[in-house]
Amino acid sequence: MSKTLQAIRGMNDILPEQTPLWRYFESTVASLLDGYGYRQMRMPIVEATELFKRSIGEVTDIVEKEMYTFDDRNGDSLTLRPEGTASCVRAVLEHGITGGGQVQKLWYIGPMFRHERPQKGRYRQFHQIGVEVFNLDGPDIDAELIIMTWRLWGLLGIRPALTLELNSLGSSAARANYREALVEFLSARLNQLDEDSKRRLATNPLRILDSKVPETQALLIDAPKLVDHLDDDSVTHFAGLTARLDAAGIPYVLNPKLVRGLDYYGKTVFEWVTDQLGAQGTVCAGGRYDGLVEQMGGKPTAGVGFAMGIERLVLLLEALEQVPAALARQVDVYFCALGAPAELAALVLAERLRDQLPNLRLQVNAGAGSFKSQFKKADKSGALFALILAEDELAQQTVALKPLRGNGEQQHISWTALAEQLAACLQA
Ligand code: HAM
Repeated sequence: MSKTLQAIRGMNDILPEQTPLWRYFESTVASLLDGYGYRQMRMPIVEATELFKRSIGEVTDIVEKEMYTFDDRNGDSLTLRPEGTASCVRAVLEHGITGGGQVQKLWYIGPMFRHERPQKGRYRQFHQIGVEVFNLDGPDIDAELIIMTWRLWGLLGIRPALTLELNSLGSSAARANYREALVEFLSARLNQLDEDSKRRLATNPLRILDSKVPETQALLIDAPKLVDHLDDDSVTHFAGLTARLDAAGIPYVLNPKLVRGLDYYGKTVFEWVTDQLGAQGTVCAGGRYDGLVEQMGGKPTAGVGFAMGIERLVLLLEALEQVPAALARQVDVYFCALGAPAELAALVLAERLRDQLPNLRLQVNAGAGSFKSQFKKADKSGALFALILAEDELAQQTVALKPLRGNGEQQHISWTALAEQLAACLQA
């Protein structure tokens, strides 16, 4: 027998048991963003490879090692998007919607692709909800983004498990100064550096700061600090942000080693992290990228945003047992019918009920079977009530309404009164 085909490693099916929690999460975020006046964008999943090279940076893990890149039939190099910011910048430029200083507050949702080593919380196809704001350069909007996520953690009941880490990367000139100082310091200690960091010293030395190698971390204790090289504007901006977070009562930890893995950031960077998910503890991350739009060919345009990983947040909701109990029930009423004439009547009655009670979640037993097997299915569906229609009910133009939870009595209801009485029972 031939081997059955399987999904690509690191790319997961999201099964019907899981989708209610995904939808709950997604709709909670969507209504929160609606409430703050953010508007949804939908960008293509595939873009020109050049877009990601130019925005994320040639010497980043994503671009060097993780992109799904291929030539299409015309020989153009295309890439499955590894993140959303680059596409969003491309789109706002292409449609001119940030021109003349127009403020845009945007969000998007969808799959992203990175060829990383799969493990819990880290996948090759994963899903993000991202937010990008253009043409606002003050710390007030950085604060709004963070306050908004803080509110979300509250709504979801996961606030106690999350810590906000903050840093400022300063202006590009300040970073260049700092880079020089860091390279000078590390070059003098080259033989103590790990191989990866040696390579980064020439290409992307700031990334050495978040090296996982203990010896490198030990070496960095005495290294020059980015905070000591920040420009005045970035210092004032960062103080403006922390003052607002203090006023809003949002706790944070300053992490001078937080540099992020994408090259476009400057000034504010932040991550929301948890210790509940093992190694992949960052559930939401972002920062300011004031130079990116210009770098991509547009006019100077301030930009700031973040993205959260849906898989990781769903895992966190489960780990903290914050899955709303109501999600277990996807059906309110289960309709059982016995015999062909009763089945036909049930079908007509069910459609009438859907007309009269548009929010009703009603499942009609398909595939018939004995009453016993139908009841089993009704019970398994989690429905609160079963409607039963057999020969006797058909003759009397009634339906039996049987409570499936608790110990209420079964009652017979006429077809004409069914919608009204069912609605009353469901509300009780
Ligand atoms: P990022 O830090 O690369 O930033 O990803 C944001 C979030 O996506 C991470 O914190 C994590 O929750 C999730 N994530 C990333 N990679 C994976 C993976 N392999 N498997 C599962 N989840 C993952 C960005 O993508 C930036 N575009 C964020 C941004 C928007 N900055 C400004 N605007």
